[in-house]
Amino acid sequence: MKSVSYKSYGAPDVLRLELRPTPEPKAKEIQIRVHASAVTTADWRLRASDFPGGLWIVGRLMFGLFRPRKPILGMTFAGEVTEVGAGVTKFKMGQKVFGFSGGGAHAEYLTIHEDRALAVMPEGLDYADAAAVPFGGLCALVFLRDVAELKNGQRILIIGATGGVGAYATQIAKGKGAHVTAVCGSTSEELAQSLGADEVINYHETDPLSGKDTYDVIFDCVGASSFATAQNVLKPSGLYVPLNFGVRELRQLMTQKKGGKRMKLHVNDDTAEDMQELTALMSEGKVTPVVDRVYDLIDVFEAHSRVQTRHARGTVVLSLG
Ligand SMILES: NC(=O)c1ccc[n+]([C@@H]2O[C@H](COP(=O)([O-])OP(=O)(O)OC[C@H]3O[C@@H](n4cnc5c(N)ncnc54)[C@H](OP(=O)(O)O)[C@@H]3O)[C@@H](O)[C@H]2O)c1
Repeated sequence: MKSVSYKSYGAPDVLRLELRPTPEPKAKEIQIRVHASAVTTADWRLRASDFPGGLWIVGRLMFGLFRPRKPILGMTFAGEVTEVGAGVTKFKMGQKVFGFSGGGAHAEYLTIHEDRALAVMPEGLDYADAAAVPFGGLCALVFLRDVAELKNGQRILIIGATGGVGAYATQIAKGKGAHVTAVCGSTSEELAQSLGADEVINYHETDPLSGKDTYDVIFDCVGASSFATAQNVLKPSGLYVPLNFGVRELRQLMTQKKGGKRMKLHVNDDTAEDMQELTALMSEGKVTPVVDRVYDLIDVFEAHSRVQTRHARGTVVLSLG
């Protein structure tokens, strides 16, 4: 099967198009012919070994000290079930499925345990649209529901509101009845509004952390703020939730006082239940795929370069059709 692999950390040119053996499903696993997969900020960080906030060594210990432990990137997939292993009860051959694999999806075939974060694709979606949603959609769902515990009527500031996670956070926050202020650049203002933002701040013109408006929740998807700067516009018991954090935030968390303005840190764990909830939101039209651009497999270097700019509008997708 065709795949994209990397054997050392570095710039996009460490990626190689490579023929590899097609994986066979073990018991309780299904084999998927992958038609589309997202290129996410997680793929870029793993490829470049670019782990934020002084956590480089932690990242290297987790993903391979001297070279990547898993050679195939690709966090999300959309494709067709081509084989089922012994004991599989949830999926059958020929079904169109999508989900979060956490790696291995930049290849024509993928095997995954049936209990992982995958689901049957909603009607009417194509593979590229389906593959675009699980990374940012699951992250936004869990962070807003469980970490921020966002409630109807609360005011939320989403920094990076049109990116790989932000484009879904904006939609989900609006669906929860929050008043959403989206932060993005001038070229993405219209997109932010179409995703449901009540107000848009163009960060090139206005500093979102020095205005008069205050927020119950600040969700920073880019790493353009800190707990100290966020406090300027947090309500007295407001919550700061950064997706990127490092040693500084871990230290601040240990000395954080009870009550008052708070910060919460979390690392996402993608589950089958959350994937079901996300699929339901998509079927109800409450979460819509946002695709920056679809690249052919041969153009994977350009796709990675695009993600690394931090100006993607929604999700960058790789086609393996
Ligand atoms: N903790 C966890 O479990 C977890 C889970 C998933 C992801 N993550 C991390 O969270 C991040 C998610 O990133 P993503 O995929 O959403 O990023 P992304 O796609 O690169 O974000 C792009 C967005 O950020 C905006 N932006 C760029 N520079 C900005 C600035 N200086 N100020 C405000 N907005 C700015 C862009 O707007 P314009 O294009 O208009 O400039 C665009 O809306 C990654 O770093 C990833 O590693 C963490």
